Amino acid sequence: AATTTAAGGGVPPEVLPPLPPIEGLTPFVDLNLDPRIVEVDLVARKNQVALRPGIATRLLNYNDQFPGPLLHARVGDRVIVHFKNELDESTVVHWHGLRISDAMDGSPMIQAPVEPGASFTYDFIVPDAGTYWYHTHLHQIEQFERGLYGAIVVHEREFPTFSAERLFVADDIRLGANNQVSAFQESGPDIGAGRVGNTLLVNGNVVNGETGQPFTFSIPRGAIERWRFVQATNALAHGLRIRGADVRVIATDGGLLPQPFTLERVDIAPGQRYDFEVRPHADATEVVLEALIQVLDENNQVVEQPIAYARATVEGEVKAEEPIYPLVELPRVDVEPAETLQWKLSGGVVDNEVQFTINGVPAYVGEGHEHVLLHTFKPNVPVAITLTSNVSPAHPFHIHGQFFQVVARGGAPVFEPGLRDTVHVRGNESATILSYFENPGRWMVHCHISEHSEKGMMADIQVD
Ligand code: C2O
Ligand code: CU
Repeated sequence: AATTTAAGGGVPPEVLPPLPPIEGLTPFVDLNLDPRIVEVDLVARKNQVALRPGIATRLLNYNDQFPGPLLHARVGDRVIVHFKNELDESTVVHWHGLRISDAMDGSPMIQAPVEPGASFTYDFIVPDAGTYWYHTHLHQIEQFERGLYGAIVVHEREFPTFSAERLFVADDIRLGANNQVSAFQESGPDIGAGRVGNTLLVNGNVVNGETGQPFTFSIPRGAIERWRFVQATNALAHGLRIRGADVRVIATDGGLLPQPFTLERVDIAPGQRYDFEVRPHADATEVVLEALIQVLDENNQVVEQPIAYARATVEGEVKAEEPIYPLVELPRVDVEPAETLQWKLSGGVVDNEVQFTINGVPAYVGEGHEHVLLHTFKPNVPVAITLTSNVSPAHPFHIHGQFFQVVARGGAPVFEPGLRDTVHVRGNESATILSYFENPGRWMVHCHISEHSEKGMMADIQVD
């Protein structure tokens, strides 16, 4: 509820500063005048978008927007989403990273899929501040590739003030003849490593190729901005850096860090998010957000190719106040875990069918929505899980409804501060996470690469 009106007499319960605008994506139209309720209509249907010159690309979108409208709220707000499915097939909407109740989580195992023509009302309180996103969780290989996703920004109760807040949602789509989404393969590298696109998008704009242009805007000297980044690619993980500015990482999947840190670059996997604090250098003429994408050079060596995602011209001057970050404390990781689990992520060919497995079991395959129950956790006790990919594909592994911290890779401690809901388990590598499983319910755990999850690497856990 963006508009606040004092209705009648009575003292408003609390006067909250309005949320800052988020540059980059168009927000939902909020139908509710109560400032603590965000109530919106969401429709999934076919859409056509001019991505490249020539014929428009046939997509599946929310509210005819690509990406879908931005859901913008404040922590503790109630969100009501009146969802209608106008697709030709069933779907559900998942709120990636929000620790809401399992009934509202968009798990096709709990929620009956929304059939064509049918509706469902999602109704929840947003429990944590941070940068999140929403997307389809059914027939995902095609529905997700065709654009059924959008971003969520949940502001801290007392949020730091910036000169501007921006949001970048990155995606890769594979376009073929006539600018249409290429056919989906049933085998080969698209299944093995996950489908990677040839057309890179930032906020729905093509940024690579002959007609691509980085997303552009201007930024004044002296500004201190918050840039939020959502990795909405299917299988593409890449480096990310910002040139021409002093940059600090201020938030990960689960919101602000206790202590911002500086890095030349970060690596971001499908499903993950980062927030950056950006201060243009005094002598910079532009600030560039760049993806560092692994490609093969002419000698078949893996090299990183920088692609400009966004380019800001430094123009004008402001005198920004220092942002005041709220105090953040993360759950302790220097503890003896109550349990230590091993989850082996693997795959193979069974009866001529590719299957991906967790601990040897293809936990979910095909149309049925029965998931294998992988483990039952007691809430609020620390558990360490080592996820291992003993073959070459990487698996950006996502746990619904919980946050965790990455504590080790290959058994050695790592510096990867911040709460995550998705960990990048690289090929032939292991990553150890620690979580307190604070949110009771039945939750999906899966690789975020649609081809992997839909072909078996998707199970359930129970917290109770
Ligand atoms: Cu964003 Cu179950 O996923
Ligand atoms: Cu995977």
